Amino acid sequence: MIAVRRLRLGAAYVLLLYLTLHFVNHALGLVSLNAMETGRWWFLALWRSAPSTVALYSAVAVHGILALWLLYERRTLRMPAWEAAQYALGLALPPLLVAHVVGTRIAWWRFGAEDPYSRVVFSLWLQVPESGARQTVVVVLAWLHACIGVHYWLRFRPWYRRAAPWLFAVALLLPTFALLGFVTAGREVAARAQAPGWSQAMLRAAHAPDPAESARLVAIRQGFLDAYLIALVGVLAARGARRLLEWRRSVRVTYPSARVVAAPRGFTILEASRFAGIPHASVCGGRGRCSTCRVRVIEGLRDLPPPSETERRVLARVSAAPDVRLACQTRPTRDVTVEPLLAPSVAPAEAFATDVRQGREQELAVLFADLRGFTRLAENKLPYDVVFVLNRYFEAVGTAITSAGGVTNQFTGDGVMALFGIESGPATGSRQALAAARAMVEGVGALSAELAGDLGSPLRLGIGIHTGPAVVGRMGWGESFYLTAVGDTVHVAARLEQATKDYAAELVVSEAVARHANLDLSRFPAHDLTVRNRAGQIAVRVIDRVANLPTG
Ligand code: FES
Repeated sequence: MIAVRRLRLGAAYVLLLYLTLHFVNHALGLVSLNAMETGRWWFLALWRSAPSTVALYSAVAVHGILALWLLYERRTLRMPAWEAAQYALGLALPPLLVAHVVGTRIAWWRFGAEDPYSRVVFSLWLQVPESGARQTVVVVLAWLHACIGVHYWLRFRPWYRRAAPWLFAVALLLPTFALLGFVTAGREVAARAQAPGWSQAMLRAAHAPDPAESARLVAIRQGFLDAYLIALVGVLAARGARRLLEWRRSVRVTYPSARVVAAPRGFTILEASRFAGIPHASVCGGRGRCSTCRVRVIEGLRDLPPPSETERRVLARVSAAPDVRLACQTRPTRDVTVEPLLAPSVAPAEAFATDVRQGREQELAVLFADLRGFTRLAENKLPYDVVFVLNRYFEAVGTAITSAGGVTNQFTGDGVMALFGIESGPATGSRQALAAARAMVEGVGALSAELAGDLGSPLRLGIGIHTGPAVVGRMGWGESFYLTAVGDTVHVAARLEQATKDYAAELVVSEAVARHANLDLSRFPAHDLTVRNRAGQIAVRVIDRVANLPTG
């Protein structure tokens, strides 16, 4: 599947490059017909060379065949408007473009007929202007098809929002200049055609096809149109036949709020949603690129076919939990209950946001730290000094936390909250939190020594650590969105930090931390703490000096 995706993308790249250079060549008509012809010489030197010919026609074949294959593959034709437009344009372009291709490239290849701009523009502008009008519409449609593809391919890339205005300008200006170039060249050709004998001489020099050759070209064009029609009808017939077969065995997909959709076996979960008109996020249009369609499988996980390589990669990229699958890639063979994880209106920028950013419950270690007696110390200082000391303190503890693998979360007053084990789990998180505590105390000790002259007495820390379940996610508003955790574990960790005052200790950790970190703290005093608004007590160990912690 990854190979198919790459093939498709590679083919699209080649076609986009061809179209872009073709437009640039047309735009040279704004300079003069001669400039267009010079540009064409370079254009043909590139695209009529053997390797480029192979690349171009392979791209056309791959793009066309895969489009038909995807039409067969998708179980429902219900889709967002942009996707429908992309499909419709893609399917309409081959029959619309064939006359131009046969009249230029195929005529050159079969009968040696040259297709300089003077001949092509003469034909489209003067001889058969309705063909010229149709060709104008076709190039606009082809460009639109390409732009929709590029936009929906790139729009969840982080840089895209910044680049979009520039890309939009190029998307608008390039075809505009190309069409203006064509119009200017049309006028120039019309003026030249006034000269007696110019048209005949130009057509002779270009070896324009004679009537017999023209009839042969018409037959070639018709042959292509027939083949295309047969392929299209064949795909639609195959879809119909498959549908009859698949409807005989349907599966039930249950959504939150107990809505049940009966869909034929072979539908993806996303197709089942679309089939039933259930809004379901799908930023990339179901191509397995964006992860926004992902669902938590509540029932029936074991019966699902295993994820493909493509799906596995995308899920790994968002650190998805084991019960999460991509709705657009998963075809249930038995009944399944799912819960879409992202809102249908999810912004493209949220594609690849990890589950953590979206919010999830998980076990992790939470650390709270506070400077002892800092309020009193601050009372005798100038505001400038207070801010200076606090910023140096935050630098010391922040560095200790991030170096140990944690995430600094809140700096409030002289307090700090940090999270450990978001990605690595509670065992590693607990060990990291203890390592961070050690480094924080050392860092603050070094800072106290450095500022000894200003501080009067050394800075002292009180640290509380607890490990347990919490809801982790990006929370906040406006510019102040940050990763944080809420829940009982956070509440308890804050309480343990306060308890350091009661025990006149540097560190109070819950037994859960010692257990997860696999650390023997039995030589430190044990206590049971009550926590306000919480039933039961928390078993803790009181460590008078962090330096005394075993390094285990
Ligand atoms: S819709 Fe983009 S990965 Fe499923």
